[in-house]
Amino acid sequence: MPILTPTPEALPAAPEPAAGAGPEPLVLDLSGPEAARGLPPGLPPGLPSGWPDPGVIAQLANALFQGGAVQGGGVPGGGAPQVVSPPSTPPGPGLLPGAPAVTTLAPHLPVQLPVGPPDVPPVTIPSAVPTPNLPAPGPGSAVAVPGAPAVPQPGSSPGLFVPAFPAPFDFAGLPAGLGNVVALDARRPPGGSAAPGHAPALPAGIARPSEDGYYFLREGETRAPVADGPRGLPALPAEPAHPAARGLDFTGVAAGLRPELVPDLGPSPHPFDPHAVKRDFPILQQSVHGKPLIWLDNAATTQKPQAVIDRLSHFYAYENSNIHRAAHALAARATDAYEAAREKVRRFLNAGSTKDIVFVRGATEAINLVAQTYGRRHVKEGDEIVVTHLEHHANIVPWQQLAAEKGARLRVAPVDDTGQVIVEAFERLINPRTRLVAVAQVSNALGTVVPVKELVAIAHRHGVRVLVDGAQSVSHMAVDVQALDADFFVFSGHKVFGPTGIGVVYGKPEVLKDLPPWQGGGNMIADVTFEKTIYNGPPERFEAGTGNIADAVGLGAAIDYVEAIGMEVIARYEHELLVYATAKLLAVPGLTLIGTAAEKASVLSFVLDGCRTQDVGAALDREGIAVRAGHHCAQPILRRFGLETTVRPSLAFYNTTEDIDALEAALRRIQARRGLR
Ligand code: ALA
Repeated sequence: MPILTPTPEALPAAPEPAAGAGPEPLVLDLSGPEAARGLPPGLPPGLPSGWPDPGVIAQLANALFQGGAVQGGGVPGGGAPQVVSPPSTPPGPGLLPGAPAVTTLAPHLPVQLPVGPPDVPPVTIPSAVPTPNLPAPGPGSAVAVPGAPAVPQPGSSPGLFVPAFPAPFDFAGLPAGLGNVVALDARRPPGGSAAPGHAPALPAGIARPSEDGYYFLREGETRAPVADGPRGLPALPAEPAHPAARGLDFTGVAAGLRPELVPDLGPSPHPFDPHAVKRDFPILQQSVHGKPLIWLDNAATTQKPQAVIDRLSHFYAYENSNIHRAAHALAARATDAYEAAREKVRRFLNAGSTKDIVFVRGATEAINLVAQTYGRRHVKEGDEIVVTHLEHHANIVPWQQLAAEKGARLRVAPVDDTGQVIVEAFERLINPRTRLVAVAQVSNALGTVVPVKELVAIAHRHGVRVLVDGAQSVSHMAVDVQALDADFFVFSGHKVFGPTGIGVVYGKPEVLKDLPPWQGGGNMIADVTFEKTIYNGPPERFEAGTGNIADAVGLGAAIDYVEAIGMEVIARYEHELLVYATAKLLAVPGLTLIGTAAEKASVLSFVLDGCRTQDVGAALDREGIAVRAGHHCAQPILRRFGLETTVRPSLAFYNTTEDIDALEAALRRIQARRGLR
């Protein structure tokens, strides 16, 4: 299996920035007819009179947005605008391209930052205890809050969060009139029924999707079991039994569990050294429970390279200010840094314009934004929204909420036994009532790469717009929103080696321009009186208030980092690692992979014969191996396979074949210990 071998010249040279390239200056165009009336373009007629003349506005705007750059620089004393490289030291050979930003000159960091591994010995930090070196607030502490629960003290926690299984769901307690709530449970055949207060009976074997996708609870059927009802969860056994004990037949799935089904892309033309890359991530240099940390929980969140950490630190040390608002030097630096990050996101997604890029808190907020704007405007009673059975809760719940508010219905496109969307069944769901399709590009629970380009084309043939959830795809493959023809594309920064609390909505300009705002406040307005407010255009219309400026800048640094390696190189390396890992895990006795589509990325969900998933997760943690064990915020798709939870290692480009070997060996030890009991 051709896993790429490291070479010293592993990384492609960083592209030289084009001379003068950088974010477009934010200069108001004062040449239009509005300008003749002394108004910025885009404002409707009838604005208050008495605006200053265009010259004054130009000066004001340039002072606000450029720190005076257009007139000769914003540093005290003037001077020409300067093009400066990103302030952080490159994390490794040629990793950061010198992306320029027109700004006032910020001082460079006074010290040379470390390249590669940090200059500190690996440490063992017990997990789930307060941040080392910070005294835990407690009685007598200056920060103790009366009545607040006690903060765990170092050593008091076993270092493991064991999720509680949900209390039985009270079906009988469902209120009347819950029409349009969807039953997403593949175990319940269409038209089937279950007595109130009882979970549906599991049929032997894996239920096949019906012609029509899945069963929907309609008006008047409020007593049927609801898998993802608005009031709670369905009844579960006190302790989930292993599928084998539940009479489920996995032979159909197991037949697909062969690594050769993952298409062989052949060896990469670009050598890549994951060991060198791993050294750029300080957190990966530590030990946990006395073992070197092996981070295989990348679908939950990714770790941050030193370049991103340095960029955040530099922002707060030298640039921090609110943006788009003040005429001082730091406002100009912060505004430039934030808008430069928007340009990096545009480039990363190959969007047509920075105006198509809206910063939000993460993919979840991004989907809620689209539901609250496009959804509220276009979805009416009787309309339908189509998702797939693979979706993360973030791409289900906002649509359920919208459907409940509007009297619309959620339709669910089924998947086959490998976990791939059945394209023909998807197409059959689209009809004149369909208003929107919302679909993940990569499943977080199974790793399925969904043929979203095909789904978008089908939806568009029916005049239906499509949201693509890229939360799990952007760190693994190159994304081109124009080639996909997605109407909306969303992702989270923290899943692509950037900070938490920052994410993106891409929207086609013709779609965004007609959408109402979803939150009101500063920044999103062009003019406010007590009588009315005139909104800004995209993207500001959707960025009310002070946004997450620093983390947007950090996301820009993360994008620089992955682009310097190359998304194609990353995709190919990870693909080879996935093939390697699939073969290794299948060799572990009693291990069943869940999710075996021919097109997969990063994720290896599995159950281990006779072992509870949380016990496997805890046992791996004791070996320094971090994986997620649970429902992965995607309960419907796990239930499609008759499961409540799986163990889910998930890969990133800093993982190595040695990490996989360690995982395999640990799983074999877990199995062997079980045999001895
Ligand atoms: N969506 C994240 C996951 O898959 C949290 O684990």
